[in-house]
Amino acid sequence: MTDGNREVTLVTGASMGIGRALADAFAGQGHHLLLVARSGRMLEDLALEIGRMHGVRVFCFAADLAEPGSPQRIAEYCRKRGLHVTLLVNCAGISRASDFSELPSAALECVMAVNMSAAARLIRQFLPGMIAARKGGIINLASLGGAQGVPGLALYSATKSFVITLSEALHMELKGTGVRVVAVCPGFIETGFMEKAGHDARRVRLPINPVDVVVKAAMRGYRQNRMLVYPTLLDFLLVFSQRFTPRFVSAGLSGFLAAARNNR
Ligand SMILES: NC(=O)c1ccc[n+]([C@@H]2O[C@H](COP(=O)([O-])OP(=O)(O)OC[C@H]3O[C@@H](n4cnc5c(N)ncnc54)[C@H](OP(=O)(O)O)[C@@H]3O)[C@@H](O)[C@H]2O)c1
Repeated sequence: MTDGNREVTLVTGASMGIGRALADAFAGQGHHLLLVARSGRMLEDLALEIGRMHGVRVFCFAADLAEPGSPQRIAEYCRKRGLHVTLLVNCAGISRASDFSELPSAALECVMAVNMSAAARLIRQFLPGMIAARKGGIINLASLGGAQGVPGLALYSATKSFVITLSEALHMELKGTGVRVVAVCPGFIETGFMEKAGHDARRVRLPINPVDVVVKAAMRGYRQNRMLVYPTLLDFLLVFSQRFTPRFVSAGLSGFLAAARNNR
């Protein structure tokens, strides 16, 4: 059964947190949505709520993005339903606070699969269609943690560096095609993310900002086709100051500010 030729904004990690808020914000601008996360029931409830509130069509696809075949299954679902993804928001992400030597191997695989492989595979699935249509875009949720290695979050920060550099390169490759690519680099945001990662928010030495700070910054950054978006002035200053600082100082400072070690 197809749903005609409908343009949708695909949001991964849409069941809660930043993804949920971004889905709501884009629906408020009239975007039809395709929501992806593992929690199918939460997605369906959210789809009803957003559809009713904003008068847009909302589709759901429950998928575990740690599974390598998920991006292709999502693309096949779109083809069957006649959905054209004109905006891809790669928001699903996970972390685990731990010294790297103690990181369980299952967590290692899962963090890399969701934060890097799934995001890259989804881009590869949907980018050619955007280029052919000469419009559309990709918003990748990176992190301030990706601007340098973060002790206690070594793997997470490395995956977010991947997201940043992939986004930068794509932003430049796609100049003149009508397709935008934006990487959003927030500091700490008030969601359930840190708790799930075993990262004690009370120890963090940086402000923990509400979700709307990153949503507004992402929407503005996408509108203005910015390559990198830092939601707050402090986020920007922390990254800007790295131009005058040896890398080992930046890495040490980020470890001190994030305070992700010794959470056992
Ligand atoms: N919160 C922060 O402090 C912060 C700071 C900087 C960057 N970020 C980034 O912002 C993004 C969103 O974070 P958030 O704070 O909104 O986190 P969150 O509230 O924990 O939400 C994470 C989302 O990702 C989905 N997800 C997790 N694992 C998945 C999997 N295997 N397959 C499919 N979906 C999966 C979750 O849905 P299900 O559990 O239903 O699958 C959920 O919808 C992440 O990429 C994160 O790295 C967050």
